[in-house]
Amino acid sequence: MKIFLDTADIEHIKKLAVTGLIDGITTNPSNLSSIKGNPKDRILEICRLLPHGHISVEVTELEPEKLYIQAKKIAQLSDNIWVKIPCHAHYYPVIKKLVEEEVKINITLVFTVLQALMMCKLGVYYISPFIGRWEDLDVDGMQYIPQMRHMIDFYGFETKILAASIRTVQHMHDALLEGVDAVTISPEIFEKAITHHLTDQGIEKFTKDWRRLEINNFP
Ligand code: G3P
Repeated sequence: MKIFLDTADIEHIKKLAVTGLIDGITTNPSNLSSIKGNPKDRILEICRLLPHGHISVEVTELEPEKLYIQAKKIAQLSDNIWVKIPCHAHYYPVIKKLVEEEVKINITLVFTVLQALMMCKLGVYYISPFIGRWEDLDVDGMQYIPQMRHMIDFYGFETKILAASIRTVQHMHDALLEGVDAVTISPEIFEKAITHHLTDQGIEKFTKDWRRLEINNFP
């Protein structure tokens, strides 16, 4: 199960990449719009920082023909880039063509099992179902993850589920138990996922008990 950071913040990426647990980065027009400097330079810096990571970079063109050309240019920036394309019916012919040309695709803004099915039939590498944005509408976004997992496994598709729009550690917990292939989470969620107050309390107790022995060199 891969863990991606959903950020373009290079300091956060540098800080957490040293854990050895970060398998890639998902950028999008929103998180890239909050950085200083040229987004292309930041993308290349991220690709260099994680040369074996899966780095997702989203198209920004809206017209299918322009989107196709932009997707090819994005893919050529680095071998470890997955091109993110929104799951819109206007883009299906372009997605089909890019898959046939072996461009690595991550379909974003996936909300329904039927959208997931169409993308699996086109043979895309990743689908990114959004959980949190359903919950913004007071709808259980997690319900679709096991349904997509069942659909892919039942029909033998090879497309991988990259759970996105993860707003809580519980979302991450539930998504991995549903067998997703990857999650993309904010640095904040990652930090919460790797820390626990009972672990901290346990270390404090072990240390306090050990210090009663007044042994300075062990073993
Ligand atoms: O980057 C894609 C997705 O993870 C965005 O999440 O929280 O903006 O819905 P969010």
